[in-house]
Amino acid sequence: MARPYQLYVDQTYKFVSDVVRGCARVLEVGCGRGDVARLLGREGISVTAIDLKLVDSRPSPGVKFVEADFLRFEDAPFDAVIFTSSLHHIHPLQAAIDRAHRLLAPGGTLVAEEFDLDAPRPLTARWYYDMQELLAAADLYPAERVDPPSNDDPRMRWLDAHVHTPPLATGRQMLTAIASRFAIRDTTRCPYLFRYLCNGLPDDERGGKIAAHVLMTEQRRITSAALDAVGLRIVAMSQ
Ligand SMILES: C[S@@+](CC[C@H](N)C(=O)[O-])C[C@H]1O[C@@H](n2cnc3c(N)ncnc32)[C@H](O)[C@@H]1O
Repeated sequence: MARPYQLYVDQTYKFVSDVVRGCARVLEVGCGRGDVARLLGREGISVTAIDLKLVDSRPSPGVKFVEADFLRFEDAPFDAVIFTSSLHHIHPLQAAIDRAHRLLAPGGTLVAEEFDLDAPRPLTARWYYDMQELLAAADLYPAERVDPPSNDDPRMRWLDAHVHTPPLATGRQMLTAIASRFAIRDTTRCPYLFRYLCNGLPDDERGGKIAAHVLMTEQRRITSAALDAVGLRIVAMSQ
C-alpha cells in the first residue's frame, strides 16, 4: 500500500506520463519535491524541473533541477511544459502562459494538473470539512491544518482558507489564459480534495490506506454527481 505522498505523486504521474509519452524534452514548472520529474526521467525523458525554491534537488537520471522564476526562465525549446499544481500560483497568469508558449517547440504540448478554486459548492466544501474534522478528531490529521471555521457557510470557509497575495487563479481564469495562446485539446475534472488530506495524514501504510479510501470516496461521489470535481486537468497544443 502506497503512503499518502506516494499516492499523490502517482496520480499526477499517471496523468502526465500518458500525455508526454514520446516527448524527448520536457519542462516541469513548480516541481516541489521533484518526484514526478524523477519518475519521468526514469522513462528516458530529458526533464528540466524548475521551482522558485527547490526543496530536494538530489540528482536523478534524466532530470536537471533548476531553482528559478519561471517567468524569467529561458532555454532551448521543449516538447512539453507541465504545470503540477503550480499554474494557479503564478502571477501574472497571462505572463506564465506567454512564457510557456515561448518555451515550447511549434506543436508542443502544455499540460496542467491544477485545482479549480471556484469549483466547490457548499455541499462539496461541507464534505471536505467533515473529512478534515473527523480525521483530526481521530488524531490522524493535524488540528492546525484544519481550515478555521471562520464562517458558517462552508464555501466561504473554503474561500477564506485560500486567500492569497497575489490571488490564486481560478479554473476559468486558467482556461481563458491558455485558450488565448493554445488550442485546448482536452479538459477533465477530477478528484483533488484528497490531495490536501494526503499532505497531513500519517506518512505510513495506515495513512496510505486512508488516503486511498478518501480518493475512492471522492471519485465515487463525483461520478454520482454528489460532489463537485475540484481537480482540473488541461491539455493544450501550441499553435
Ligand atoms: C502548490 S506547490 C506544488 C508543488 C508540486 N508540484 C506538488 O504538486 O506538490 C506550487 C509550487 O509552484 C512553485 N512556484 C510558484 N510560482 C513559481 C514561479 N514563478 N516559478 C517557479 N516555480 C513557482 C512554488 O514554489 C511551489 O513549489
